[in-house]
Amino acid sequence: MTIMVTGSFGQVGTELLESLVQIQGHSEVLATDIRIPDGDYEFETEVLDVTDQERIRYLIKKHSVTSIFHLAAILSALGERMQDRAFDVNLTGTFNILKAARDLGVEKVIIPSTIGVFGSETPRENVPAVTVERPETMYGITKVAAELLSSYFRRSFSLDVRGVRYPGLISYKTVPSAGTTDYAVDMIRYAVAGKGYVCYLKPDTVLPMMYMPDAINALLNVWLADGEKLRYALEYNIQAFSFSPAMLEKELRTHFPDFRVDYRPDYRQGIADSWPSSLDVTDAVRDWGFSCDYDFKTMVSDMIEHLEGKQTHWEK
Ligand SMILES: NC(=O)c1ccc[n+]([C@@H]2O[C@H](COP(=O)([O-])OP(=O)(O)OC[C@H]3O[C@@H](n4cnc5c(N)ncnc54)[C@H](O)[C@@H]3O)[C@@H](O)[C@H]2O)c1
Repeated sequence: MTIMVTGSFGQVGTELLESLVQIQGHSEVLATDIRIPDGDYEFETEVLDVTDQERIRYLIKKHSVTSIFHLAAILSALGERMQDRAFDVNLTGTFNILKAARDLGVEKVIIPSTIGVFGSETPRENVPAVTVERPETMYGITKVAAELLSSYFRRSFSLDVRGVRYPGLISYKTVPSAGTTDYAVDMIRYAVAGKGYVCYLKPDTVLPMMYMPDAINALLNVWLADGEKLRYALEYNIQAFSFSPAMLEKELRTHFPDFRVDYRPDYRQGIADSWPSSLDVTDAVRDWGFSCDYDFKTMVSDMIEHLEGKQTHWEK
């Protein structure tokens, strides 16, 4: 039994791998990415560009892969600057993974979707699983297509494809660099470093968010869930809390009274404005028992605790 992860060294993969090794043991985890960063890893690694269909098939056969966590993606902000690449990686890459999994008998494929699938015609608050999905970004368009392809493979080929729609994710282990909600991680680390922060979103932009430990648990729980109970493929909305840059600034000031934020919105404001401020998580709770350990305040405290003393790493 081998679990293959694509896009392993990104923000989600880095932390998912730690958990998978704990659950499965290092010999059963294969980390792949388009580039493998230098390091000593307790699991096997292979270079894999998910746009390369033949290499996907070769690695599935070589390692007798039984589950695939497909994380390789070009995220929202980067996708607006690299549209061809976003199309190739997010859409062709996902189609390649699904076809190879179907043809080679992979038991489960787990794919995170995103709030990026929504657009300004989606209701703003408490968005249900099935709703208007007319995104206005290249990222969103490719991720809607990935959701639809996943449902199609489930229905037409009985391929067990599962996933969640992630909100913005907050973590201290990896520096995010390609998404629209990255400001939250940046604002916390600047506050911890004793510096002011220039925020690229307006102060009142409320978005759904989640702390990474809860995000990883959610993905593992959906992977291990009873398949009979799953009514959807990737459409399970999840979030822990919603907040705006101003709310985060205020909370950070309770820890760092001198902390100040300057607001200079850029092109990412338009992306954020097209996304909802909160999601209805009822289906995830009912079908596979979704829950979170961290609320807004405990997330901020935990981030600060882990980032203190880590500035040298972050400043690189
Ligand atoms: N981080 C978030 O806030 C967030 C929110 C919603 C959904 N998601 C979803 O979670 C998943 C993982 O996102 P992440 O935050 O870890 O992204 P990330 O940008 O941090 O990492 C993506 C990884 O994919 C790799 N990659 C890029 N092109 C590739 C290719 N052609 N072949 C193979 N690998 C390639 C990159 O090297 C990188 O390691 C994605 O599906 C994303 O849509 C993330």
